[in-house]
Order: sequence, then structure tokens, then C-alpha cells
Amino acid sequence: MKNLGILLSGRGSNFEAIARAVAAGEIPAKIALVVSNRAEAAGLERARALGLPALCIPSKGKPREAFDREVIEALKTRGVEYVCLAGFMRVLGPDLVREFPNRILNIHPALLPSFPGTDAQKQALDYGVRFTGCTVHLVDEGVDTGPIILQAAVPVFDDDTEETLSARILEQEHRIYPEAVKLLVEGQIEVKGRRVRLNKGAAAASGRSPAP
Ligand code: GAR
Repeated sequence: MKNLGILLSGRGSNFEAIARAVAAGEIPAKIALVVSNRAEAAGLERARALGLPALCIPSKGKPREAFDREVIEALKTRGVEYVCLAGFMRVLGPDLVREFPNRILNIHPALLPSFPGTDAQKQALDYGVRFTGCTVHLVDEGVDTGPIILQAAVPVFDDDTEETLSARILEQEHRIYPEAVKLLVEGQIEVKGRRVRLNKGAAAASGRSPAP
């Protein structure tokens, strides 16, 4: 059984989707720790309500290295092996990324490499794309630049607002994030440069053609 750590900053609905999949036995892992950098994050409450270890490590006014060191310490103390960023609104420093090489996942509400950074749904609406979506990727030292594991496309309608579009994307986030976590902890992901290859069993499960 692998130990998962979750980092979040807000609502925590992606964390809940992962927690549900873990509880249902779909992901062979346990959530060993939930960390928020904001004390008022609803996700912290949700974690506590589920009986999971949850703590706040405030980031405000702290140099990135100091914050990252505290997070690494907390994750290591709980034996965390894989980290899921679930609406975590801070860029990780190199120390944290190097501590968990190719073992940190992020969900981003756009089809990367389009619309990285903040307000991805607004960026997509403003640009006028007909399709956007969400991406689960491995975290490297850039901002939303790591190798892509899964993506889902979502149409943009003429009368969409940021809210309606975000809600349509979120539904897909809750579907592909737990699936990607499962692939990662089961060791079904092979990373070669930027490209991620799923093994045959994983490819069949996700409806993709298997690698030759
Ligand atoms: C999600 O839409 C996630 O994709 C986005 O924040 C939201 C968090 O919702 N993340 C980013 O924009 C990261 N750059 P949640 O707290 O309910 O999971």
C-alpha cells in the first residue's frame, strides 16, 4: 500500500474525488497526510471530517525555501511516497520537486500547454477556443510544464461564463485525476523525456491503444 500526500489551498473537491477512489479500493494507496497552506481552506475541514490527518502549514510571508522545507518534513514524517497537488495555488520550489522525482502530480483546468498559470478557464474563454479541458501531469521545476499523463477535452459554448465552463471542466477533473493517481501508484507509467507511456493493462483500462 503506497502512502499519498495531498497539498491543497481551497475547496478540495479534487482531493475528495481521490479520497473516494481510495476508499472504494480503486487506488491501492492510503492518504497519509493532507496539507493546506491556508488555514481557512474548506479542503482541510473535508479531510478532518473524513478522519484523515490534516494540517495547515501557512505559506503567507514565508520564503519559498522555508515553506517547502516544512512541507517536505511533514510529508517525510508521514512516510509519503506520492504527492497530489489538488488546487494547490503555489509553485513548488526545486527542493520539494527533487525530493519526489516523477512522483508529484498536478491537475490543471486547461489542455496544457495552452493556458498555464492562474485563471485557466478565463484565459480559455477570453481567447475564444472551442475546446478546452483539463490535464493531469507530473510536476517538474517549471509552472505547469511537466510530462502529461491524462487529458480530457471539454467544449466551450457561446453562452458559457467562467462559472459554467469551470463546472463542466471540474466534472472531468474528478474523473481523470483519480485515474491518473491509480496509474502512477501502480507503477504503470513510463516517462521518456516529455512523453509518458502507459503499460498495456493501463492503456486498455483507459480506452487508449496500447503501446506497440
Ligand atoms: C481545480 O479546478 C484545479 O484544476 C485548479 O483549481 C481548482 C481546485 O478545485 N487548479 C489550478 O488552477 C492549478 N493551477 P478543488 O479545490 O475543488 O479541487
